[in-house]
Amino acid sequence: MSPTYSEYLRLEELLKLQTGVKGGKRSISNDELHFILVHQNFELWFKLIINELRSTRDILASDYVEETKLPQAVHHMNRVIETFNLMAQQWKVMETLEPQDFLNFRDELGTASGFESFQMREMEALMGKKWIDGKPAGKDDSNEKSLYEVTCDWLERTPIQGSTSASPDDENQVNGFISEYLAAHKKLYPDTHQDAVTFFEEDSSLRRRRAGLVFIESYRELPLLAWPRKLISTLIELEESMILWRSAHARMVERMIGRRIGTGGSSGVDYLDMTTKYRVFIDLWSVRSVLIKKEALPPLQNPDFYEFKGE
Ligand code: HEM
Repeated sequence: MSPTYSEYLRLEELLKLQTGVKGGKRSISNDELHFILVHQNFELWFKLIINELRSTRDILASDYVEETKLPQAVHHMNRVIETFNLMAQQWKVMETLEPQDFLNFRDELGTASGFESFQMREMEALMGKKWIDGKPAGKDDSNEKSLYEVTCDWLERTPIQGSTSASPDDENQVNGFISEYLAAHKKLYPDTHQDAVTFFEEDSSLRRRRAGLVFIESYRELPLLAWPRKLISTLIELEESMILWRSAHARMVERMIGRRIGTGGSSGVDYLDMTTKYRVFIDLWSVRSVLIKKEALPPLQNPDFYEFKGE
């Protein structure tokens, strides 16, 4: 038999959950009901985001990611991006709570804080290691592989000038490409050339990964690189949308509690502003400082490799 709308959505149970602490006898004001509902809304969106991030991660986790799977990964991430964009707007609803009215029930929260949102930490762990000023910030606290890790593995396998990491001559090919690229870079940007040299001056795995990234960004119009390039811009957009959401939270908090410390015991707004400096996809951001214009690029070798191939 077909369920009713409210049976399917389990609405009766859902709508009973806005009472504050379970079994609490306190009556909840309009303002506090609003406060609880806004938080619960966010946590529901977090659940969606975690699910989509995990699906994206699973697609990229395989040793060989088929071209046809990339659009699906992009699709999952687009859903996350739109959700972050929507959530960034949702702080406006929170801001209809007047700072003074918040004080009426703030003490009831005790030390409870968004700080303790386990779904937030799960989202962060799924995204990957946080970096600040080029150094790891905090530990990797997850047993699962993160989106960052699987993206690194995937980038490292990028065919460079038609050479794959399985080709016997791969190291020479990659080094050849990097040398030519750096020579072109030096001519164009002698003042900042050292940044580009440093970018590639790494152990072989990180070096190949960065060369792969530069290759995809540089020859982005090749048919076989179209989806990889789209995937990279979607990853950047994903992180950007998360940062903008964090920044909007910080501004809402500043408006609500000024420079007070948080219920979770952090410095409050200063702490939140610091979290907007984290980057996860750190290479994807920093590669932008070492790109060169198309006409100066090393000539493409093995162009056939990057055409679509029919059966
Ligand atoms: C009156 C409204 C709010 C105020 C004043 C506020 C304030 C704060 C403060 C000061 C912190 C820093 C940690 C601490 O010391 O407590 C924090 C963290 C956090 N808040 Fe809020 N918040 C509000 C609403 C929300 C809402 C609606 C959400 C949605 C779930 C939320 C999610 C979070 C999360 C996830 C963190 C942890 C951020 C991180 O560590 O990266 N906050 N909040």
